[in-house]
Amino acid sequence: MHLNLLSFILAAPWVVSALPTIAKTPDIPSRLSPLKFANTSTLLNVAYYESGPSNGSAVILVHGFPYSIDAFVHVAPLLTEKGYRVVVPYLRGYGETSFIYPDTSRSAEQAALGSDIIALMDAINIEKAIFAGYDWGTVAVNVAAALWPERCNGHVAANSYLIQNRDTAWAPLDPESEALRWYYYVFLTARGAASLASSPKSWARSLWQKNSIGWEFSEDYLDLTATAFENPDYVDIVLNFYRNRLLYVPGDPKYTDLAAQLDAQPPISVRSVTFDPENSVVFPPTNGSSTAKYFTGSRCHYILPNIAENVPYQAPQAFANAVFAVDSLPVDGGNYVCPQAL
Ligand SMILES: *[C@@H]1O[C@H](CO)[C@@H](O)[C@H](O)[C@H]1NC(C)=O
Ligand SMILES: *[C@@H]1O[C@H](CO)[C@@H](O)[C@H](O)[C@H]1NC(C)=O
Ligand SMILES: *[C@@H]1O[C@H](CO)[C@@H](O)[C@H](O)[C@H]1NC(C)=O
Repeated sequence: MHLNLLSFILAAPWVVSALPTIAKTPDIPSRLSPLKFANTSTLLNVAYYESGPSNGSAVILVHGFPYSIDAFVHVAPLLTEKGYRVVVPYLRGYGETSFIYPDTSRSAEQAALGSDIIALMDAINIEKAIFAGYDWGTVAVNVAAALWPERCNGHVAANSYLIQNRDTAWAPLDPESEALRWYYYVFLTARGAASLASSPKSWARSLWQKNSIGWEFSEDYLDLTATAFENPDYVDIVLNFYRNRLLYVPGDPKYTDLAAQLDAQPPISVRSVTFDPENSVVFPPTNGSSTAKYFTGSRCHYILPNIAENVPYQAPQAFANAVFAVDSLPVDGGNYVCPQAL
């Protein structure tokens, strides 16, 4: 029994480790500032925070919903301390990122989120970067790494692989799992849209409480994050993300080709570190085996004990360690040993 398990682990291109409990960081709300701005070929004026040496190896950190770049406030200094150039953009619809033109589709489909990362890199002359994200940020970094591996120096993602094949968008889950996705369905309705528009901060509080077990966030941190929801496109972008994923709105024709490529669920060939927070509700923790088929390069997978959905804010050292870990893996396959823990 033991021998079988051992040989299975040795044969697998990934390992799973139980990790020690990660100490909580003090909840002192603070912001990543000042912001910089760049116009992209995806027709956004992207607001982003940048720190670290301009000749450092680049890392792009991508936030989720309903969060902001400030989820990375304790991660960024850990990376710059080691010489990385850190770039933390607001997603379309969040914070001070804006659409340059009023008539650009407010699409939040997966192809658009991934394209925005590459377009930002083009705009600020970053040839290659490590991409790291959680929640919507995972969708964005998955897409960018899968479709533009030549721009990706390493891929770090909570919940491993969230690229959707639209052919399975209506495949039902068990009732308990569907119930946990209640907000996807509320966002399909006019009433849900009106509710999000009138109380985006209350929505965030509710989702933070429901989607994370035992996360004791402060009202100050919620207040600070909620300023990112004052963006005039926030409601349209949030609704579009869920409506598009459930096939209730079509994508932007500009992304038709990329969207079709994503339906094929392309593998991620670059070196990757993935993790599942133990206390995340919508995507329960896994040992990584179900997503192994999507990773054709080196890949290490972890479960983060006592951590929930907002991984970078709750466990900044583990998140930074995931970046260091991915940067220690071989770029072009070959033998590798995963770090024991993050
Ligand atoms: C972005 O484009 C807008 C509109 O064309 C322009 O006003 C602005 O100066 C540009 N910003 C940057 C950073 O290039
Ligand atoms: C970046 O530039 C500084 C100052 O010129 C230099 O000391 C450092 O070695 C450079 N780092 C890299 C990674 O090239
Ligand atoms: C990983 O989880 C799957 C599904 O729960 C299970 O079938 C498999 O045996 C597990 N693998 C290991 C190495 O624990």
